[in-house]
Amino acid sequence: MITLPTMASATRKTVVSSAFGGAAETYDADAHLQRLVAARLAQDIAALPLAAVPRLLEIGCGTGFLSHHLLTDRPAARATITDLSPLMVARCRRRLDAMSPQARFLAMDGERPCLRPDGDGEGFDLICSSLALQWFDSPGDALAGWVELLRPGGYVVFATLAAGSLIEWQNAHSALGLGAGVASYPSAEHLGALWPPNGRGRILIEPSPCTYPDGHAFLDGLRRIGARVAAANRRPLSPGALRQVLRRVNQPDGFTVTYQIAYGCFQKDAGCS
Ligand SMILES: C[S@@+](CC[C@H](N)C(=O)[O-])C[C@H]1O[C@@H](n2cnc3c(N)ncnc32)[C@H](O)[C@@H]1O
Repeated sequence: MITLPTMASATRKTVVSSAFGGAAETYDADAHLQRLVAARLAQDIAALPLAAVPRLLEIGCGTGFLSHHLLTDRPAARATITDLSPLMVARCRRRLDAMSPQARFLAMDGERPCLRPDGDGEGFDLICSSLALQWFDSPGDALAGWVELLRPGGYVVFATLAAGSLIEWQNAHSALGLGAGVASYPSAEHLGALWPPNGRGRILIEPSPCTYPDGHAFLDGLRRIGARVAAANRRPLSPGALRQVLRRVNQPDGFTVTYQIAYGCFQKDAGCS
C-alpha cells in the first residue's frame, strides 16, 4: 500500500489517479462490491422522476459500472461521464461509446468540476457518484459544489463508505496494538449534516459483508482495483507486523470484512437557482 504521511492534496490526487489508472484493465475482475453498489444505486436513480432526456453528470466513473446502468436505463440522456484518472475515463469510454454516442467523457477532479451548469445553463438534472467520494479531501465542499451545478429540483445521488467499514480488519490491528491504514469514514449523521440548506436529503446505511479466502486475498483484491493509497498519516506496517495481522484474520471459512455503504439522495429546492 502506498502511504505518504503528509501528502499535499495535489500530490495525493496524482497518486490516487495513477493507482486507479494502473488498475483500469484489471479492475472489473475484482470489483465485486463496486459492481453491487453501482447496481443498488442505479435502482435509486431509476426511481427518480427525471426528464425524458435528462442531463446527467457522473463523478468518479471508474470503468463504468454505474455509467452502464445509467445509459441502459436512459439511452437518450445527455450524459457527462468523468473520473480523476484519464486511464479510467478511457476504459469507461471503451465500454460505453457504442451505447451512447452522444455521451461525453472527461478526466476531471470531481471535487472541483471544471464545468458550468450544462447546455442551456439550466443545470444538471442528476449528479451521481458511486464509491468515489471517500477519496475526496473535503466531501462536504464537493457536495455543495455539485448542488450548485444542479437545475432547481435536480438531484445528487451517491454511495460512499461510512463509519464502521472494515471493522474486522481494524479490530485485528487494534488487538495487536497496531493501527490499520484505513481512513476514518464519516457516520450517517456526519454525512447528513453535509447537505447544503437549499434542499432536502437523506442518508441510508447498508452493511455489505464480503468474504475472501484469506487476508492476503483481501489485500490483493484492493491492489487489483487500484485502492492502494492508505489514509493520510498512516505508516505502512512492517512485514512482520503485517504477517501477524494476516494470521489473526485468517479463519477456516475465510476472512469476512464488512463495508458500511452510505447511500445519499438530495433534491435541490425547486425554487432555487
Ligand atoms: C472505487 S473506484 C469506483 C469507480 C466506479 N464508480 C465503480 O463503482 O466501479 C473510485 C474511483 O474514483 C475515482 N476518483 C478518486 N478521486 C477522485 C476525484 N477527486 N475526482 C473524480 N474521481 C475520483 C478514482 O479514479 C476511481 O476511478
